[in-house]
Amino acid sequence: MAHEETADYGPLKHLFGTWKGDKGIDVSPEPDGDEINPYYETIVFEKAGDVDNAEIQTLAIARYHLTVRRQSNDEAFHDQVGYWLWDKANETIIHALTIPRAVSLLAGGKFDPSKADDDEVTFEVVAELGGEWGIVQSPFMKDKAKTTKFTQKLTVSATKLSYSETTMVDIYGKTYTHTDDNVLERV
Ligand code: HEM
Repeated sequence: MAHEETADYGPLKHLFGTWKGDKGIDVSPEPDGDEINPYYETIVFEKAGDVDNAEIQTLAIARYHLTVRRQSNDEAFHDQVGYWLWDKANETIIHALTIPRAVSLLAGGKFDPSKADDDEVTFEVVAELGGEWGIVQSPFMKDKAKTTKFTQKLTVSATKLSYSETTMVDIYGKTYTHTDDNVLERV
């Protein structure tokens, strides 16, 4: 790991800094249907330089931590850490994330800088259980609350970051569409 200030972060360059947003909507699984939680959130992105793999691949690294609180009672009800990675040579964006339910995933997607607007970029990544970009989870979660697919679209500019994500979860004998959306501003 090196070059925190000089790495070529490509389209990740817009992410760095602290973002806050209070327009979050979470739809999550409950035994008797969906639970809907309006939320507010802080995300902090830091430059983590770049790394070489097998002396061939270079990945530029944005490291983040996000915290989410319920509007109704200010309770912290979701926490997440991860990395967004930029593989310039392969025009690939990677999102590695871990949530403290004992679920981690590695989602990937293509990003063509020549077709992108430099002021506002959009990344789309997907992970699927058993897929090329995958999901790992504890034996308990595999048995009781299995994540089978994750898709995310994130748009970021100098002042605004928005995302929309869908997590498919097999729980309570059904497949739930667990969604989270928010719009954040740079602070
Ligand atoms: C802003 C993002 C997110 C928020 C606010 C959020 C919130 C929630 C909430 C409120 C529940 C229901 C908990 C309960 O019933 O006690 C839940 C369940 C769950 N979430 Fe999320 N979640 C988010 C993102 C994710 C992501 C990224 C994943 C995995 C990739 C994930 C996986 C799960 C799973 C597997 C469950 C089922 C566990 C259970 O309900 O017992 N969530 N989430």
